Amino acid sequence: MARVLSGIQPTGDLHLGNYVGAIRRWADQQAPDHFFCIVDLHAMTVPHEPDELRASTRELATWLLAAGLDPATCTLFVQSQVREHTELSWILQCVASYGELHRMTQFKEKGEGRHSVSAALLTYPVLQAADILLYQADEVPIGADQRQHLELSRTIAERFNHRFGDTFTVPTPTFPTAGARVMDLQHADRKMSKSLPEAGTLLLSDDERTTERKVKRAVTDSGTEIRAGEDKPGVTNLLDLLSAVTGEEIPALERRYEGAGYGTLKGDIAEAVNDFLRPVRARRAELAQDPAAVEQALREGAERAREVAAATMDEVRDAVGLLR
Ligand code: TYM
Repeated sequence: MARVLSGIQPTGDLHLGNYVGAIRRWADQQAPDHFFCIVDLHAMTVPHEPDELRASTRELATWLLAAGLDPATCTLFVQSQVREHTELSWILQCVASYGELHRMTQFKEKGEGRHSVSAALLTYPVLQAADILLYQADEVPIGADQRQHLELSRTIAERFNHRFGDTFTVPTPTFPTAGARVMDLQHADRKMSKSLPEAGTLLLSDDERTTERKVKRAVTDSGTEIRAGEDKPGVTNLLDLLSAVTGEEIPALERRYEGAGYGTLKGDIAEAVNDFLRPVRARRAELAQDPAAVEQALREGAERAREVAAATMDEVRDAVGLLR
């Protein structure tokens, strides 16, 4: 059976892009050999508030359990509670090159316009490679925006194996058929993200009326036709979203909405998104009453993760010539 690892940052609220791009598949396909990591160390690469980080880490864990991750089946843990991540990250920094890191689009985007950026923003993708390689993951379920980071993880694994002998599994990324890149509802040329103004971001924590209002205000395109295409970025995003939450394919949706107006499409999307999120939102409200259960899941998750991580680190230390 394939070993799976994926990760998510505890920054801001979860949005529908995170959910359909990654988390839903984590929950649907979970198995004992699947590891899901709340990457709190990655969230420190840009300025942060300590209290907020602590709170968002717990909050994200609650949402992930609400989304269906079952600690009795898979392993959910917090990155910083497994110290091997930072240890391996250092060793991999000695294998990755400065030029490779400098070319990463996310580094360029996040650094843009900032007076000064942390060194960790540059080395961020190496820590991500460490997250994956520590668990010898075969597959990494992610959204399309993480493709470049995954390419780098593969390069680092291959280079390490070539230099020091076969040590790491070279991971393969997997993407959903719909919803791999959910775009912002107000800016159809930008991915839905926690860092953009909220009007175009469908948050899991929104109430149903807010979701409806955001969908109804989504930008569309000139013309009235409901079809996907490069000249119709707004409508294409809406169809992709509907396809992601209902499982219907885009050509079938185009046929259904032939002759219909944008208002009808948006009304149906708002309803479909709310139907889709209702059980997760309800479960999250229940779990919020039981913080001890969330803590317990994270404690057990870290213990299981540590066992696997420590075994990989023993091999890595031997391979590179560090004393045990
Ligand atoms: P993060 O926290 O930004 O996002 C978590 C997951 O959600 C996906 N995603 C999207 N999918 C579709 N449409 C969108 N608009 C959208 N926005 C986000 C992301 O692709 C991701 O799968 N660097 C990673 C976290 C990370 C990681 C890892 C991932 C750290 N270590 C190891 C995989 C394996 C990140 O910032 O994801």
